[in-house]
Amino acid sequence: MKRIGVLTGGGDAAGMNAAVRAATRIALNAGAEVLGIQRGWLGLSEGDVRPLDSAAVGGILHQGGTILRTFRYPELIEAVGQKKVEEQLAKLALDGLIVIGGDGSFRGAALLDEMFDLPVIGVPATIDNDIPGTDYSIGFDTALNVAVNCVDKIRDTASSHGRIFVIEVMGRKCGLLAMETGLCCGAEEVIVPEIPFDLDEICRRIEEGYGRGKQHAVILVAEGAAKAPYIEYELKNRLKRSIRMVVLGHVVRGGSPSAYDRMMGTKLGLAATEFLLAGERGKMVGMVSGEIKLSQFEKSTQSLQDVVVKLEDLVRQLT
Ligand code: F6P
Repeated sequence: MKRIGVLTGGGDAAGMNAAVRAATRIALNAGAEVLGIQRGWLGLSEGDVRPLDSAAVGGILHQGGTILRTFRYPELIEAVGQKKVEEQLAKLALDGLIVIGGDGSFRGAALLDEMFDLPVIGVPATIDNDIPGTDYSIGFDTALNVAVNCVDKIRDTASSHGRIFVIEVMGRKCGLLAMETGLCCGAEEVIVPEIPFDLDEICRRIEEGYGRGKQHAVILVAEGAAKAPYIEYELKNRLKRSIRMVVLGHVVRGGSPSAYDRMMGTKLGLAATEFLLAGERGKMVGMVSGEIKLSQFEKSTQSLQDVVVKLEDLVRQLT
């Protein structure tokens, strides 16, 4: 392959830079030219690219976000967006493309591979960790650590005031980030989209906890299950206690990548490029039971849902 493109798409995730660095250097080592496509699919549709040499990807391992920048570009599924991309692809003459991002980016990757006959390999990166076909997506560990850090701080106030805190965590339609944060922080309740919740029952358990001598109640809410202001409002209607809510929002997405995300970004970025150079295409790399594997872009999220349900059982046993 003479010319390879590297692109980051969807929400930025800590560790994307490690993947960009590994992909670039492995491709350069193989004698290919590397083009960094800026601002995801939007940048591709506008021909916004820059050559990446080894130095261009130096000193970025510790940086959060993505040096290539990113953009939500739903126009890629529309004819007008596809036409623009097709025109730019003809000019750029890429022999292959590494797409680092979440499932939206992978839909685009599959489309490009099929529609424009461009070999594409995906690298999973999203704080939601909701991509079928991999046990891990780059960015999740950093986001989890930030969320745990925030909840630990809030818990100090919750205990001091004997309060109930409702804390909303990102994750799109997946409850894994909220669930693992809850487990790591000893949350009393974790509300996730995968499991129906009953507010009367939650209130009963909270009161029971106070009855057993608990000093506070921390309730994690995954954004895909409910909004924190709603839960706060409903609890205030049911309980005569001091209640506050916090939305962690984008705070958990930023910051310097954890060691684990730097390592996973490096390993997955490297593997993706090696597979692409070896002639693989239309697939994604992923971590499956501790091994890096190449798999189809999958759609079923059933196994992800099962993981969350199992973890909820753990939360229940430990509160
Ligand atoms: O997919 C990552 C994510 O942070 C989700 O958890 C969240 O729902 C979404 O992106 C927010 O997107 P945006 O940054 O475009 O508002």
